[in-house]
Amino acid sequence: MSSNFTIRFASASQHEADLGILLTLVGDGPAAGAAVADPAAVIARASGIAGFSGKRLTVLDIVAPHQSPFGRLVVLGCGKVDDLKSYDWLRAGGKAASIFKRAKSVTVFLDAPGLDVTAQKAADLALGMLLRAYSFDAYKTKKADDDDKAPQSIDVTIVTAVHAEAAAAFEAAQAVAAGVNLARELVNLPPNVLGPVEFAGHAKALETLGVEVEILTETEMRELGMGALLGVAQGSARPPRLAVLQWKGGTQGETPVAFVGKGVVFDTGGISIKPAANMEDMKGDMGGAAAVIGLMHTLAARKAKVNAIGILGLVENMPDGNAQRPGDIVTSMSGQTIEIINTDAEGRLVLADALWYCKERFKPSIMINLATLTGAILVALGTQHAGLFSNDDELANALLAAGEESGETLWRMPLGKDYDKIIDSKFADMKNSGGRYAGSITAAQFLKRFVGDTPWAHLDVAGTAMGSPLNEINQSWGSGYGVRLLDQLVRDRYEA
Ligand code: BES
Ligand code: MN
Ligand code: ZN
Repeated sequence: MSSNFTIRFASASQHEADLGILLTLVGDGPAAGAAVADPAAVIARASGIAGFSGKRLTVLDIVAPHQSPFGRLVVLGCGKVDDLKSYDWLRAGGKAASIFKRAKSVTVFLDAPGLDVTAQKAADLALGMLLRAYSFDAYKTKKADDDDKAPQSIDVTIVTAVHAEAAAAFEAAQAVAAGVNLARELVNLPPNVLGPVEFAGHAKALETLGVEVEILTETEMRELGMGALLGVAQGSARPPRLAVLQWKGGTQGETPVAFVGKGVVFDTGGISIKPAANMEDMKGDMGGAAAVIGLMHTLAARKAKVNAIGILGLVENMPDGNAQRPGDIVTSMSGQTIEIINTDAEGRLVLADALWYCKERFKPSIMINLATLTGAILVALGTQHAGLFSNDDELANALLAAGEESGETLWRMPLGKDYDKIIDSKFADMKNSGGRYAGSITAAQFLKRFVGDTPWAHLDVAGTAMGSPLNEINQSWGSGYGVRLLDQLVRDRYEA
């Protein structure tokens, strides 16, 4: 069931109770519910009977007695209230949204004892609801006659003393929701519908938000010498694109930050073709590019005070009479030559030219790329952390901190000379695969050869961009991973 939430913020005196749900948040400890005078006794009694103690993300759901101005009284546990991160507020909002069910109106009393509600936390709670509400149902034709799947419209009023500031923070939260849900949608879309040209069209659409967008065609990329990216694309009937997005929200002339995404709209493996099992998942091999476009959407929609570049390398990896072969040697835009060992190690080839182009043209202060780059990162870290590789400790630590706060967590992996030599080639400057061992690390070493001295981080999101376990704030296969993480980084590092 998907829902449309209309969320507003009010003070207790502005708010008139009507028949709906009352939701109140409590911390760990003896039963509470003291936030509202009338239902407090009911909640306290029910807590005792049900053994509800306010543990994080537990719920007490009571049908209200008939004198009550509410239909249901719902209490949501917050656990230890003194160590709540942004992510905990999102999860609380997501959890809350999941229990609204058929309610038409919901009143959330936020100012519970000990909770220290700020505008940002209230907005995070609301954001959790918006993220929970996303579902990919564009291709389900039967939803209209299935009651459970008909979208519900729910009016949510969040009552808090900081309502005015919360309403302002919620404007930015809506921008985040739009960016995350855009990234999810693109990852979920089927590959016949979303080719490189169509993806570039989604990038172009960001112009309405004030983003400057250029779309480079095959001819232009050939003139730039992007032999690595073009080698991947040559087996596909659908031509490649490179999307270049600029958001100029910072001061004029300030050095930009740059985000680069792997956008392989479908990865068959090429001539080194993948096995049939689960190959359909490779429609999500553009999850890095989806995160970058989602992030640029968010930054522009909330008018972030930063100059940001987004680069999307958009190609399809197909086997064909014209496809690239193992043994081919291609020349990248940097001039470095690459021997193709495995045509399925295509993401690094796309990024090699996208990173080099980004560095040469924009000379960014930092460069962060996101890519569903290796199956090996799933073996190492599962779906719980994305792999972080960086040549700069300060940037790496800022990313790790943003990961903790946002809940889009990272785990730092090593780089080093001994790993780098594994991708030296007999015939060219390097080869595109170093074999099975340390597969994620040798892939990162490959990218590192195309970033020069730029402080750079590579996020391997093969385990987190899609197919990760569903949770309070995400019920979709495409997770939108990376948008909130990098929005958090921009807030912390460039807008604080
Ligand atoms: N897109 C895949 C990586 C991937 C695997 C993403 C599973 C999401 C889930 C990438 O292009 C790839 O095929 N990598 C190879 C590299 C190898 C040939 C050196 C891999 O991981 O096996
Ligand atoms: Mn591949
Ligand atoms: Zn791939």
